[in-house]
Amino acid sequence: MAILGILTWPDPRLEQPCVPVQQVDDDVRQLLDDMAETMYQAPGIGLAAPQVNVHKRIIVVDVSEEHDRLVALINPEIVTAEGSQECEEGCLSVPGVFAPVTRAQRIKVRALDRDGEAFEFDAEDLLAVCIQHEIDHLDGKIFVEYLSRLKRDRIRKKLQKQAQRAM
Ligand code: NI
Repeated sequence: MAILGILTWPDPRLEQPCVPVQQVDDDVRQLLDDMAETMYQAPGIGLAAPQVNVHKRIIVVDVSEEHDRLVALINPEIVTAEGSQECEEGCLSVPGVFAPVTRAQRIKVRALDRDGEAFEFDAEDLLAVCIQHEIDHLDGKIFVEYLSRLKRDRIRKKLQKQAQRAM
């Protein structure tokens, strides 16, 4: 397994849409393992493939305290969504920034598992938030897009300054 580099917004590669996985093979399983390790090490509760510069529809999520409930989804789709909740969100690609976003409370998700088998499940609360946030990444959408333009510009400036200092 390997720790992968995580792109930081406003890197334009984060806004590139992702293509569906055609075949779930060993390369995809290796990527899932590396993404999970990268997420746990960060530490974070979700990671989408474009954040590690792979433009395929793959996400990993684990909202458990013990890091023992990994949800690895290939080509995930939200089948139904109900209710709404506001949650303070953060993102490994937008380090140090947290802001409230309103999303569905409960969702039904369809995806392929690491063996390429299709399955469906229901998610609610934080798990539902996290899956919606990660699926947005697959469409090139970062959570700061839900904020006002003013807030987003402020965050962009802050991160650009941080990036310059790191060089
Ligand atoms: Ni994110």
